[in-house]
Amino acid sequence: MDDPDCDPRALAATYRRFDLVNRLVSAWGHVYRTRVRPELRALGRPARILDLGCGGGDVLVRLAGLAARDGFTVECVGADPDPRAISAARDRGRPGVRFVAQDSTALLAAGERFDLVISNHVLHHLDAAALASFTGDSLALSTGTVLHADIARGRLAYALYTVGIAPLSAGTFLRVDGLRSIRRSYRAPELAAALGSPWRVETPAPFRVLAVAPGEAGND
Ligand SMILES: C[S@@+](CC[C@H](N)C(=O)[O-])C[C@H]1O[C@@H](n2cnc3c(N)ncnc32)[C@H](O)[C@@H]1O
Repeated sequence: MDDPDCDPRALAATYRRFDLVNRLVSAWGHVYRTRVRPELRALGRPARILDLGCGGGDVLVRLAGLAARDGFTVECVGADPDPRAISAARDRGRPGVRFVAQDSTALLAAGERFDLVISNHVLHHLDAAALASFTGDSLALSTGTVLHADIARGRLAYALYTVGIAPLSAGTFLRVDGLRSIRRSYRAPELAAALGSPWRVETPAPFRVLAVAPGEAGND
């Protein structure tokens, strides 16, 4: 799906089905309860959340729903430089959530700031230079916490995904791209070494890593 010339119908189907796949594997329900909700509660005012590299937008739409159910007023922005992702995300939109075709550096240059910055499944896509720039931008965009969630590489994750994705992958890129993503992803100590200070890498659920750091936008 990274190929700009890939089949648009398969791409659209992949973005739609990410909703179910991310619900099954990404542990954002847990991260919401343990990280996002306490942060929103502590703020005690309307919050702005940014999902960097939002893809089809399903993770952000889900977080917006969880926050609304808990009575928080939240403005959610999903950003991705890939216009195909933004188009898919806008199809899924809900009130209080908007999607912009911009990357992290453009958002920063535009003076945007957020109370919480998150990403899902972006880190393993990036080479060393892009990783440094993406995570650096995320710190500079956040006055609160930054949470980057990703897959933890491992043989069992690979084997379980191979079996589990079979009934869901017809007509999509979920099988090929998902397995490639698991091969490219980090184990927790590797990610900690790649990111360095101020990041702490946790394992919030089986087969998951979560890089956590305090944002630096409030230090200006
Ligand atoms: C595998 S997708 C993840 C999509 C979505 N977060 C999910 O979990 O389904 C990675 C996305 O990161 C985006 N991306 C890469 N570098 C970025 C940057 N510097 N700022 C914002 N998005 C970026 C890519 O365009 C791509 O859509």
